Amino acid sequence: MVFVTRKAHFSAAHRLFNPTFSHQQNEAIFDKCNNPSGHGHNYVIEVTVKGIPDPETGYVIDLKRLAKLMEREILDKVDHKHLNVDVDFLQGVIPTAENLAIVFWGILEPKIDSGTLHSIKVFESDNNFVEYFGQPVAVPRFSTQLQEAEA
Ligand code: NI
Repeated sequence: MVFVTRKAHFSAAHRLFNPTFSHQQNEAIFDKCNNPSGHGHNYVIEVTVKGIPDPETGYVIDLKRLAKLMEREILDKVDHKHLNVDVDFLQGVIPTAENLAIVFWGILEPKIDSGTLHSIKVFESDNNFVEYFGQPVAVPRFSTQLQEAEA
């Protein structure tokens, strides 16, 4: 089995908060990431596909095709956007790196027709990243308001 990885970058804003929590709870749990007008990250994603190289091409998956797929399905939709507001497939999702990885998996996995999706890594900073291997996890969706209800 050979593992091939395509890495890509995007920049986006988000606000971490749960609309069912009070303002105080959101502040206590999400801290700086709860800034009401959001804040930005330079994200890096790494998508790894595993398989046996095709005997005629030597490829597990043509990385040009994987790159195009990631661009079309993910990067074009999230780059320079506010993740809580602008991205259809993230409506109501708390946009942590964990949840981004799970949602990205759901989008990419059915479209990979050569090899098998093995993992998705989402780096929110140099020091913080998550890795997801596709174990079934439901991502809760909340109201799409960007602010919690007034107490
Ligand atoms: Ni953040």
